[in-house]
Amino acid sequence: MLRIGIVGFGFMGRTHYQCWNKVEAAEVVAVCDTNPNIVEDTKKAVGNIGDAQSDIDFETLELYTDFDKMLDEAKLDAVSITLPTFLHPEFSTKALSAGVNVICEKPMALTIEACEQMIAAAKSSGKLLQIGHCVRFWPEYAKAKEIVAGGEYGKVVAASFRRLGSAPTWSLDDWFADEKRSGGMALDLHIHDTDYVQYLFGLPKAVAGFGAKAPGGGLVHIVTQYLYDDDKVVTAEGGWAMTPSFGFEMSFNLVLETATIVYDLTRKPMFKVCPAEADAFTPDVAEGDGWFLQIEHFAKLTAGEKLEPVTTLEESRDSVKIVAAEKQSIEEMKKVEIA
Ligand SMILES: NC(=O)c1ccc[n+]([C@@H]2O[C@H](COP(=O)([O-])OP(=O)(O)OC[C@H]3O[C@@H](n4cnc5c(N)ncnc54)[C@H](O)[C@@H]3O)[C@@H](O)[C@H]2O)c1
Repeated sequence: MLRIGIVGFGFMGRTHYQCWNKVEAAEVVAVCDTNPNIVEDTKKAVGNIGDAQSDIDFETLELYTDFDKMLDEAKLDAVSITLPTFLHPEFSTKALSAGVNVICEKPMALTIEACEQMIAAAKSSGKLLQIGHCVRFWPEYAKAKEIVAGGEYGKVVAASFRRLGSAPTWSLDDWFADEKRSGGMALDLHIHDTDYVQYLFGLPKAVAGFGAKAPGGGLVHIVTQYLYDDDKVVTAEGGWAMTPSFGFEMSFNLVLETATIVYDLTRKPMFKVCPAEADAFTPDVAEGDGWFLQIEHFAKLTAGEKLEPVTTLEESRDSVKIVAAEKQSIEEMKKVEIA
């Protein structure tokens, strides 16, 4: 049985808890959070999707407020790092140095340099570090990747991705609103699609971004075109300026030579393949959501199974790099090459 700890028990910490509970070969034994009211606060509903507010059985958990103490005492095989983004490098490095495998939420870090430090820490520790780019594991996104890679419907002509909602307001100290701690909307939310674009098509040659800012100065809505060697049109739109009553949309259209693949969380059916020569159909996809499937994958790796990598540390770093180029492109109102 893998002994699991979780540090940062807000929306994503509780989401990881629910996912780990579904992994038979693992048990969450310890939780660390600096919030002294964590037991009461876990009863509040938070987040945009998922079941983070479901019951937590605190009787079975060792509660810590000090991460070093948890690493010293809890004899963990792995830890979920579900802390505000600016803390990812420090806490990942500590856990890896203590010989504990790490699954750390996305984005990997705020800067490319910090990502490099995390990669170096993982390499020198010999332990696993996986960044939570859950969209690669999201059943419909994973299936779409499989269909595109299979080549059955020809090449991609155009691809567009959307991720739209209202600003996250569930954190205790509103750290999401502080660009220095969260990286702002582009690094926090839109990076999901940036990373998926990279997963489908590799590193773009360049990006051209357009963005709208809130009165305070932070980006709240962004549209980026990702440029490759051929003429396919790849765009992603992200924003957290939607009104709360809008809800949350994640969606994509993939236009291939002989089929169009569409997904929209807000529509029924959510997922359709529309071939040129046949009726539209909804393919079978994996059970569960991307959060669970990425944790299940990480748990198998931690237990020593050999699996094809779905996400690499270098790609997680490159997603931070691409988003930085998108922000630069918006600031300078010009196309930015990705080095
Ligand atoms: N994959 C996804 O779909 C997804 C969705 C939302 C958030 N995230 C990412 O997950 C991470 C966490 O986001 P969240 O929404 O859970 O935030 P949150 O504010 O809900 O939770 C953060 C928790 O960390 C605790 N914390 C802060 N400093 C601490 C410290 N030094 N030691 C221990 N605990 C500490 C806070 O008390 C809080 O409970 C962020 O990196 C965010 O970008 C990912």
